[in-house]
Amino acid sequence: MEAENAGAERIVRFGVIGVGGMGQAHCKGLAKVAEARLAAVCDADPATAEQVGQTYGVPHFTTVRALLRARLCDAVLVATPHPLHGPTVRAAFRAGLHVLCEKPLSDRIGEAERMVAEAYTAKRSFGVMFQRRTEPVFVKALELVRTGAIGRVYRTAMVSPEYRTQAYYDSASWRATWRGEGGGVLMNQAPHVMDLFIAIGGMPCEVYGRTETRLHRIEVEDLAEALLTYPDGGSGYLYCSTNEPPPGQMIEVFGDRGKLTWRDGQLRLVRYEPSVSDFTRESKGMWDKPNALEEPLVLPEGESGHHIVLRNFARHLLGFEPLLVPAEEGLKSLEVANAVWLSAHLRKPVKLPINRRAYDRFLALKRKASKEKQVVGATIRQTDPRHNV
Ligand SMILES: NC(=O)c1ccc[n+]([C@@H]2O[C@H](COP(=O)([O-])OP(=O)(O)OC[C@H]3O[C@@H](n4cnc5c(N)ncnc54)[C@H](O)[C@@H]3O)[C@@H](O)[C@H]2O)c1
Repeated sequence: MEAENAGAERIVRFGVIGVGGMGQAHCKGLAKVAEARLAAVCDADPATAEQVGQTYGVPHFTTVRALLRARLCDAVLVATPHPLHGPTVRAAFRAGLHVLCEKPLSDRIGEAERMVAEAYTAKRSFGVMFQRRTEPVFVKALELVRTGAIGRVYRTAMVSPEYRTQAYYDSASWRATWRGEGGGVLMNQAPHVMDLFIAIGGMPCEVYGRTETRLHRIEVEDLAEALLTYPDGGSGYLYCSTNEPPPGQMIEVFGDRGKLTWRDGQLRLVRYEPSVSDFTRESKGMWDKPNALEEPLVLPEGESGHHIVLRNFARHLLGFEPLLVPAEEGLKSLEVANAVWLSAHLRKPVKLPINRRAYDRFLALKRKASKEKQVVGATIRQTDPRHNV
């Protein structure tokens, strides 16, 4: 890797492509990473590109091509609207750069798979920004899953209220349109919790979905739900919506050895000893119940947030750490999101992996019918102020 030498330390030079709300937050976050520095920015909006370039004292570009040609970067962080991730990421690989891409990888699974394949061909590193995996509760939850605390999964549930106002949707022409975003809550707000839900509970093999637009004036869904079936017979339910305010974010996974529940930031583990299947088979008592032992959980210490993923990506490129969230992981939540929509469209359950061509055809129809959205007043490029950057 051609990282520059700053004194004795090697530094990864990052370009940020798409310096709207999230991209600007990443420019700020890079300042917290000793192993990285911001080397250039790019935005299709010339005024935004110039303003952010001046703020950080780095060259700015208005096309991806110009940024790549300048050869100022070792890696790029892509934070444009999601349907543009694919062409941008692939161009970066072809230019020999490593890529950290914002979630979702793309608006469609077939395209995201091609991006991952291109990373392999180009022998470049490819990560996805799922920063919630750095939160201590999820570091702990994933460790518990890895060490077999849940056992064979019988039931899962995900409830993800992701409240947004109409003003949020009206802030930019790409938001909540099929053409600009490729979906609604499934595509933009739910991917983080969906990613964690799948990492904890596993990947379903069948999805029966339903979508609705209830409280917002938008052409995509502000509510989606689905019944899930798992390969070994378990079942589950997922729900996400931008209509419902907090509290209530929840993931629950019930397995043969334990029940793991995350609700509004609190993680609980109940262990069953003996396992539920052994107890059910062997207990002689008519009204007996398995021992459910609540385990006090000690959470790991450490920082969390976007800059931790940035730091990990830089340290990975320098050979110090494995990638925290490789892009392949980003395929799973996108596959399920696409499956919910395809199933809702077909009005019947769909098997996973879904038919890529069928989804592309569905999305092409939606994009064709998608209406140009007028923004009242100026476009607003601002990310959620609660992001820890
Ligand atoms: N990880 C997170 O927590 C998180 C949070 C917010 C957004 N995001 C993701 O970041 C991405 C951007 O979202 P946002 O909220 O910052 O949107 P935004 O509208 O604030 O910013 C997008 C920027 O991309 C620019 N752009 C559009 N087309 C471009 C092109 N061809 N080349 C270069 N720049 C281009 C726009 O001018 C704009 O400045 C989305 O994929 C979103 O899902 C992730």
